[in-house]
Amino acid sequence: MIEKLFPEESKVYEVLLITRSNMTPVGITRIGKFLYFKIFQGKSFDDLKKDNSVVIQIIDDPEILVALAFNFPISLKLEKCEKLELNRVAGYPWVEGHADCKVISVKDSLGESLARKCKVSPIYVGITQKTPRPISRADNYLIELGVIGSRALYALKKNLPIGTRLFKEVEKLYWEYRRLGGKSKIAEEIYNLCKNYL
Ligand SMILES: Cc1cc2nc3c(=O)[nH]c(=O)nc-3n(C[C@H](O)[C@H](O)[C@H](O)COP(=O)(O)O)c2cc1C
Repeated sequence: MIEKLFPEESKVYEVLLITRSNMTPVGITRIGKFLYFKIFQGKSFDDLKKDNSVVIQIIDDPEILVALAFNFPISLKLEKCEKLELNRVAGYPWVEGHADCKVISVKDSLGESLARKCKVSPIYVGITQKTPRPISRADNYLIELGVIGSRALYALKKNLPIGTRLFKEVEKLYWEYRRLGGKSKIAEEIYNLCKNYL
């Protein structure tokens, strides 16, 4: 069943990670029957120390993923899980599982930071019927804007030299998004948030 949800091994899929007190997008991969993700310090990182219960949801609406990454207010209909004491977003397929995590140190262009590297053993897979959203290049740009925007904000707040280069990327992604018909306020907010730190 898990192979149906994540058909290609080792490909990174952008999904929603739900822990005891937080929801945030993460990139996951599937290898065999297990799912893998890496989460940097924050609320989900802290949650996973106390409780290894996780829900992974396939959400094909980038606005939901990106809004949750930036903690922008968004109203979501929640429902109870089948096996875990966690809520999930109604209407989207989900995987309930236990995450086995270890703390690692990650070195990248933003410096050195701690992360939890987690392997999820699924205990329940829930399938929903939903009309698929058509593919939109604007949506792809919004996802990229979310990813690069969160890196740019981090760098700009810490005054790292890479901050200005990341902002230029944010600017390009934002205008491409608009050019392709994207109208979400979320995109504008990310762009303005970054701009305010310049
Ligand atoms: C599409 C998308 C994918 C993301 N993937 C990850 C990820 O795999 N790991 C991670 O630590 N942060 C990822 N982020 C950034 C987190 O959402 C962001 O750092 C968030 O603030 C996590 O902090 P929190 O746990 O306190 O909510 C992603 C953001 C977006 C928009």
